[in-house]
This record gives sequence, C-alpha cells and structure tokens, in this order.
Amino acid sequence: MDRREFIRNGCAACLSATVAAGILSSCTSTRYISGALGKDGLTIDAAEFMTRQKGKTGYRSFVIVRNNALQYPVCVYRFSENEYSALWMQCTHQGTELQALGDRLQCPAHGSEFDNKGMVKTGPAGKSLRSFPVTVSNNQIFIDLRVV
Ligand code: FES
Repeated sequence: MDRREFIRNGCAACLSATVAAGILSSCTSTRYISGALGKDGLTIDAAEFMTRQKGKTGYRSFVIVRNNALQYPVCVYRFSENEYSALWMQCTHQGTELQALGDRLQCPAHGSEFDNKGMVKTGPAGKSLRSFPVTVSNNQIFIDLRVV
C-alpha cells in the first residue's frame, strides 16, 4: 500500500467511525505541526490555530508541535489571542507520551490526566507537566525551551 492509498483508506475509515458515532472529533480536531526549532525554542505561526467553516473564522483550542529533534511533542493550548500554554507531553509518572483529548492530556499507560495548564487532575502522576513560557509577537508564537 503506497502512502496516498494509506492516507485515503485511513481517512475513509476515520470518517466512517465518526459518522457512526455521530460526532465530529478526532480526524478534524487535532492538528499536528512541525514548528521551527531555533537555538532557544520553537516558533509556530499563530494562524495554525485558525479554522474556517462556512465562511466563519474560529480557533482550535490546541495544536501539537512535533519536531524530530525533540523526544516528546509539545501541546500548545490557546486561551486568547495572547495567552497560551505549552506543555511537554511526557507523563510525569513513568514517562509515557500523553494523548490530547480536548482540554486535557491523558496518559494511555496508567490513566493519569492533566488539564490544559499541566496540572494533575487524576493520578497516579503526582507532579504537574513541564511547561514552557510562551510569547507572542507579530503573529508568531515563541515557546522558550530553555526553562527546565
Ligand atoms: S506513565 Fe503515565 S500514568 Fe503511568
């Protein structure tokens, strides 16, 4: 199966599941982007959060930034034009990569859940997620990865 066929089959299967469930979620709600990795952090375009449906502009609540140089992705939540959180998607329990489910991040290993600011909502994890300062300038969102 070539790449194009894989994508076509995957989207058809996802669409079928979505229609069967009566909801529009996973295929359309999660946006993965690569981001530009610089010396001090990641930069993404604020427009990555924008959506257009029926001529109306809306905003995604989050995007997931992946970069080959990073061991884990960073989930960036949007609260307003100038307010974001950037969370390292590594569970603080035993290090499993988290999954984004709307306004929370869930661990597939043992069920820990974190809110969109990285605070633990359900254990066994006992520590908040690693988070990074975010600054916005000229529609560019900078995620400062220097902070430990
Ligand atoms: S590794 Fe995430 S809950 Fe255990």
